[in-house]
Amino acid sequence: MNIKAVVFDAYGTLYDIQSVASVTEQAFPGYGEIITQVWRIKQLEYTWLRSLMRRYQDFSDVTRESLAYTLRCLGLKYDEADFAGIMDKYRHLDLYPDALASLAAMRDKKLAILSNGSPDMLGALVKNSGLDRVLDATISIDANKVFKPSPDAYALIESTLHIPPHEVLFISSNPWDACGAKAFGLNVAWIERVTPEAMAQACLESETLPPLTMFEILRTQMDELGVAPDHRIHGLAELPALVSAQRS
Ligand code: LAC
Repeated sequence: MNIKAVVFDAYGTLYDIQSVASVTEQAFPGYGEIITQVWRIKQLEYTWLRSLMRRYQDFSDVTRESLAYTLRCLGLKYDEADFAGIMDKYRHLDLYPDALASLAAMRDKKLAILSNGSPDMLGALVKNSGLDRVLDATISIDANKVFKPSPDAYALIESTLHIPPHEVLFISSNPWDACGAKAFGLNVAWIERVTPEAMAQACLESETLPPLTMFEILRTQMDELGVAPDHRIHGLAELPALVSAQRS
């Protein structure tokens, strides 16, 4: 297999979405963790619902609407400035610590993002984190107005980079995204950041599972969708070796 492009999911894969907890906790002390988890769960749910309903709104809208839902359900009062302050974190999410070095080590390949993010929020995030210096392209599904895991979203890789799916390695830590990409025909490496053993241990140790553990059970373990990724890695640091081993 000759891999010509390595394409990354953004939120949760290159960028740590849990890093919003710093601003949610600051805005609503004691509620940071529950806001963070419900917000992300609802945000993704809304992408799938909107795609099925054929009522596309871009990811900025979906992210705002899912945050509004979360704060309303928790009975939290806020003003526009509080809300805007939390939303702004999506333009300044923390990169996973191994992201930059991993990308820099694969510069002989085309490097890109394919994300649900809208062009404005993705563009700002990529620039603020310095990834614009190593990426060849930042592709937003907004061009086709349907969210991942629709095949029409993954098709944007070939139409943008002009590299066919069998020469692309797609990287995601989101299990549903890894399954969607594999079903579409891409080579896929799934990042398993939370192992089943760690998950089982967390469940054993706690009588009332904290929201983060609930989130990890729902959104970090491989799904039962009848599709399996080609590779399972545990962090971005493992990628350069995996990619060079694909040369044959
Ligand atoms: C993305 C989200 C879904 O970046 O993680 O596409």
